[in-house]
Amino acid sequence: MASFEVESGSAEETEAIAARLARSLAPGDVVLVSGELGAGKTTFVRGACRALGVAGRVTSPTFTIGHRYSGTVDVSHLDLYRFRGFSAAEWSDLEPYFDDAVVFVEWPEAGAGVLPQPRAHVRLEHVAPDVRRILIDTTDPTLLEESTGARPGLRHGD
Ligand SMILES: Nc1ncnc2c1ncn2[C@@H]1O[C@H](COP(=O)(O)OP(=O)(O)O)[C@@H](O)[C@H]1O
Ligand SMILES: [Mg+2]
Repeated sequence: MASFEVESGSAEETEAIAARLARSLAPGDVVLVSGELGAGKTTFVRGACRALGVAGRVTSPTFTIGHRYSGTVDVSHLDLYRFRGFSAAEWSDLEPYFDDAVVFVEWPEAGAGVLPQPRAHVRLEHVAPDVRRILIDTTDPTLLEESTGARPGLRHGD
């Protein structure tokens, strides 16, 4: 497991960090985005969507299960906040979002066991009102090199 940690001092900076990661993504890639309410999950996904050519508004799909946008590639944005687990029927409603799209999943914990293997897992944490710690974990170190230019820190024991 390779991981990268960065501090963001503004929503715009979080969008820019997401944009760099997004440029290395392709349809079929799934990115999990975790963090408490207000941590910046939707802000991160918005930055990624912009970099992938999505032009319209990118808002939290809290009251629907997801949005599917078309940019230079299709981008799905799911929010599993209201779920505890998934029945087969609920999962089959979700499956089309994964078809030929880059997929971002907020509150992915409910999808453990049914979500496809993610390309990256992003975790956002509050540090101060405008400061967030952003942790990116991936099993693919080249993704971090491409998207951050950083030499990924190797975590032992994972
Ligand atoms: N460094 C930062 N990164 C991301 N969001 C920030 C940052 N500083 C302040 N914010 C604000 O925090 C809020 C994050 O909201 P949102 O992205 O909807 O969070 P979530 O989807 O995790 O609930 C926004 O109002 C955003 O402007
Ligand atoms: Mg959100």
